[in-house]
Amino acid sequence: MRRCLIVGVCVALLIVFSLGCVSWWLERRETHEPSLLAFAEHCASCHGSELEGSDLGPPLVGVDLQNGDSTEALIRAVGAGYPERGMPGFGQSLPPELVKGLALFVSEQRQDFGTTSQSWESRIPDGPQRARDHDFRVEVVAKLASRPYSIAPLPDGRILVSEIVRGLSVIDSEGNQGPLIADTPRVWDPILSADNNYVMMGIVLDLALHPDYDDTGWIYLSHTHRCQLDCGFLLPKSMVQVVRGRIREGRWVDQEIIWSVDPGLYTVVPDNVSAGRLAFDHDGHVYVSIGGKATYDWVQWLDKPTGKIHRVREDGTVPADNPFEPEDEISTANTVWSYGHRTPQGLATHPVTGQIWGTEMGPRGGDEVNLIVRGGNYGWPMFTNGLDYDGEPVTIGEELGLELALEDTIAPIVDFTPAPAISSFEFYRGQAFPAWENDLIVGSLRARTLYRLRIRGGELVDQEKLLTGLARIRDVEVGADGFVYLLLEHGELGTIVRLVPSDARV
Ligand code: HEC
Repeated sequence: MRRCLIVGVCVALLIVFSLGCVSWWLERRETHEPSLLAFAEHCASCHGSELEGSDLGPPLVGVDLQNGDSTEALIRAVGAGYPERGMPGFGQSLPPELVKGLALFVSEQRQDFGTTSQSWESRIPDGPQRARDHDFRVEVVAKLASRPYSIAPLPDGRILVSEIVRGLSVIDSEGNQGPLIADTPRVWDPILSADNNYVMMGIVLDLALHPDYDDTGWIYLSHTHRCQLDCGFLLPKSMVQVVRGRIREGRWVDQEIIWSVDPGLYTVVPDNVSAGRLAFDHDGHVYVSIGGKATYDWVQWLDKPTGKIHRVREDGTVPADNPFEPEDEISTANTVWSYGHRTPQGLATHPVTGQIWGTEMGPRGGDEVNLIVRGGNYGWPMFTNGLDYDGEPVTIGEELGLELALEDTIAPIVDFTPAPAISSFEFYRGQAFPAWENDLIVGSLRARTLYRLRIRGGELVDQEKLLTGLARIRDVEVGADGFVYLLLEHGELGTIVRLVPSDARV
């Protein structure tokens, strides 16, 4: 009895300690910011601590820059300076990665990104919004009681929504949220760590309707499956799993597992970076993106599930033309379609070609839009245009002893530097905004901006910011009505809004 008690206390202490470590690690990655300190030390005396300018140097925010504001122009300005006009060059005195870090810092401040994810408040604009080809209004569709992850507009105008620690529900056409759908995969409350951080293990992620939803009724759902003592683990571990099911009379029924991994591949890394986005091609396959829910060396390791986009048939069987064979005994290599991904937060199907496209977040700098190809290696953690959060160039790959040549990796079609924290996206198709047909409508978290991108012949040919300063945009979908639906996060709450054409064009 006594021994049981001692073992119990030790286990409890171990759990508290490990959670503390995990959240310390997450926190450290998000907030450590030498560029800010370096700016204060080297630049603020002339440009002001808020970059507002002083007698000795011009403002760097809120004005057009004389010498351009691309990252390259800023690196040049900081490196070479304008000695004859009162600005010293820093290329000799500071290491190149700090010069780049300072340039990115200036660029981030100019775009009002902020470098942490603390500003949650949602700013929904009133009245008509002007965009190049279509003016629109932003309408609130529904308010949600907890932090959401995904929306799927249904053909009849209702909206299916997933909230990460609550589960699924349906928003009716009046914007009222119905009760939670019963019998969906289990979701767990976050574990509150010693320093008040939430560690999520066992949450609901993405929703996607089967391409023939009208006939089949199938809804695909990704979530993280949590397992502990019943899998023989001391601490809870989890990994993404994909299921499909139907909703009948408020219940989730007919569930089938479409993609899952052996518990030997579950990890203790929290679910926040799981991604779990789903997409269908035109040939009967479903794809799921898995983020870095493990150490970075798994990303280039084909037998491990994370940092990959996996492909199975719609019924979960493994297609014969997948590119890789397992090497380890416990492996997910046979479902890997592409690898070397960091945080693949968006996945969508080109409406004409059926090709799968993905968005992913780089570290600070280097957010990407990628065309996903069979067997493609997208380079993480070896190659990215970004710096790591602490302002250092990314050397993780080298530290892990990975070898990879740049020419063996697939370059992004679009690179966003500095990184707005690109989240989810959708290709536009519909009647409401015909000039946007086949354009990507892309959301972002940190930048709180909605982008429209036009890609033709594998190149970005046009880009427009449709909305700025809105809120963290977690998901983007197009409804049967052709309206663009956005899922916004603010604090632990969420809001669904939609872009509808405005007649107010003058
Ligand atoms: C001794 C004062 C001084 C310091 C220190 C200084 N600057 Fe400047 N900076 C200037 C002046 C003056 C200009 C305007 C030069 C001109 O007229 O073209 C300038 C211009 C710039 C520009 C170009 C602005 C434009 O409109 O194109 C950038 C970017 C910039 N500074 C960034 C920095 C950064 C980053 C640091 C710190 C590493 C820094 N500066 C340190 C005085 C300073």
